[in-house]
Amino acid sequence: MHFTAFNSSPGPRKVDSSQVCRDPSTAPLIDYKTAVIMILGSAVLVGGVAATLFAPVSGLPATAPIGHKRDALDDWIAKQEPISYAGILANIGEAGARSYGAGRGLVLASPSTVDPDYYYTWTRDAALTFKALIDRFIVTKDAYLQTHINDFITAQAALQTVSNPSGTFQDGSGLGEAKYKPDGTAFTGDWGRPQRDGPPLRATALIAYGKWLISNGYQDAATNIVWPVVKNDLAYVAQYWNQTGFDLWEEVKGSSFFTTAAQHRALVEGSSFAAAVGSSCPDCDSQAPQILCFFQTYWNGEYIVSNTNVDNGRSGKDVNSILTSVNTFDPQAGCDDVTFQPCSPKALANHKVVTDSFRSIYGVNNGIPEGAAVAVGRYPEDVYYNGNPWYLATLAAAEQLYFALHQYSAQNSLTITSTSLAFWRALDSSAAEGTYDSSSQTYTTLTAALRSYADGYVAVAQKYTPTDGALAEQFERTSGAPLSAKHLTWSYASVLTAVSARNGDVPASWGASNNSLPSTCQSSSVAGSYTAAPTSPTWPDFPCSPAASIAVTFNVQTRTAPGQEIVVVGDVEALGSWNVERALKLEASRYRDADFPLWLGQLQGVQAGSRIEYKYVRREANGDVVWQGGDNGVVEAKVDGCRDAVAVGDRWD
Ligand SMILES: *[C@@H]1O[C@H](CO)[C@@H](O)[C@H](O)[C@H]1NC(C)=O
Ligand SMILES: *[C@@H]1O[C@H](CO)[C@@H](O)[C@H](O)[C@H]1NC(C)=O
Repeated sequence: MHFTAFNSSPGPRKVDSSQVCRDPSTAPLIDYKTAVIMILGSAVLVGGVAATLFAPVSGLPATAPIGHKRDALDDWIAKQEPISYAGILANIGEAGARSYGAGRGLVLASPSTVDPDYYYTWTRDAALTFKALIDRFIVTKDAYLQTHINDFITAQAALQTVSNPSGTFQDGSGLGEAKYKPDGTAFTGDWGRPQRDGPPLRATALIAYGKWLISNGYQDAATNIVWPVVKNDLAYVAQYWNQTGFDLWEEVKGSSFFTTAAQHRALVEGSSFAAAVGSSCPDCDSQAPQILCFFQTYWNGEYIVSNTNVDNGRSGKDVNSILTSVNTFDPQAGCDDVTFQPCSPKALANHKVVTDSFRSIYGVNNGIPEGAAVAVGRYPEDVYYNGNPWYLATLAAAEQLYFALHQYSAQNSLTITSTSLAFWRALDSSAAEGTYDSSSQTYTTLTAALRSYADGYVAVAQKYTPTDGALAEQFERTSGAPLSAKHLTWSYASVLTAVSARNGDVPASWGASNNSLPSTCQSSSVAGSYTAAPTSPTWPDFPCSPAASIAVTFNVQTRTAPGQEIVVVGDVEALGSWNVERALKLEASRYRDADFPLWLGQLQGVQAGSRIEYKYVRREANGDVVWQGGDNGVVEAKVDGCRDAVAVGDRWD
């Protein structure tokens, strides 16, 4: 994400750096974890999101050295991975713990409503997040997670048809819209639009799920529910790939390496998915080679220039390219330079140039020698929040290297070319061009150095992650303190994908090696046709054991003054059995202003099927309490298919 206008107009708002650190809340912040832990004594926690979302985390000492304590890193990963997964689910509507206002299946970029306001669903962020969730589902077969995936696809079918400032559904142009309001309606303010990476990334996520459906006996769902959504996204790519748009950071209008890669991948796998559902995609077949041809032109001989067809005065060094390498990884494609595979000489050379560009500019990287991992930002010229490292950028630098290690191991050898030599020399000064068989000492030495280098990036993310595991968007370039949007969905998703890569769980092949590169590139495009996909499909009955316990989230909009706090009290022990002293404290982390005065809190482990009566109570600074008037609120912890969470949204004026 997100978004300063940089040489672009109209575009995202320029952020005034004098404002960005202001606490959004006019009310005191209540530690969410404390609020929940208060009730743990009487609540039974069973599995799922609820149990892990606010699990206490004991942090490592702030002084722990980076990169030397493998056990410490393993311990941190073991804690951070479930927190990250729960952090994603919390941001998914309609019953996620932090998702108030989001429609079913729509994922917020972050619950943050001010400084910055990320209270929207972005097509790109959502697609990348759900690709990570789908890859996880393919391994875990978790029916609760599958319900979210199905909801996501249903929601995207509706979103595709929403007219917006990028255009309409009829000619496909509306699919290039970057973000929508949390309820799935159009966002009509100024923005950097269109953004052409959303549709191909969504197609890639859906195709991964569609292939799983087919190989598990759900051909009809793949054909009748998933394919109609994918088909529109493929048509969009084939029609518009050769036009400029805004990049993934929503700042530069031109051509973006990340976008071009996503477009090529979607059409290649779209073609084989079409065949698998008994259809075809001739426009995929005609356009994919031309996109691949254009893709080659971003390489300048030393590194990838991430933005072209624009003159913005930048170096072009950008973690855009490292994210690209991660997203185009195909375990069947070797170390292919043409599709910029993670272990390709070009991608490794680029990794060094991009990560080195952050060495001297961030205080947190002071004194870290060449060849050791550093904190990574978006691009060195970044001024958003004064320009800082991002968690997802730092973790992507690790993920590319884990994928490379996987490939060396799969092919039982490692090759250093003149292009990748500088990368390897930084890790081992004796590295030389050549191919090293896995039985050789050189192979063992180099792969060990690479693994430790990759772990170093994860350790950097670890060092700047607070002990409760909450991941913001950025960490401050000098102090390392978390900065910008809290609970950024994409930050959490980047933990899942980096950890899978580290564990050797690689995503499925997408057919990267099935490509033909034209000898000359041509401008091209095919006008597509767009047909609404079913917006209330009947998904097959996927088996699940009904939840024994349900998480109930209370959301209430009620205005408060500094010093006041809101609690919820009710007829169950976990809500104090009507005793205000033992009520559930709500938190004001999403309290924006008088027009969005949200207090929220989650009660976990509610017995499925139970019915709770409750009231909100305001506690004054002097300890006096004011009860909400009127009838008691009622919430039922209903079992509804494979769902284990419910939420209420109330107002108390
Ligand atoms: C369109 O494709 C041609 C041929 O590859 C390329 O030169 C041109 O830069 C492309 N333009 C955009 C905006 O993609
Ligand atoms: C390879 O690509 C061609 C055309 O692009 C397609 O017809 C074929 O099915 C693909 N093969 C595989 C194995 O994906």
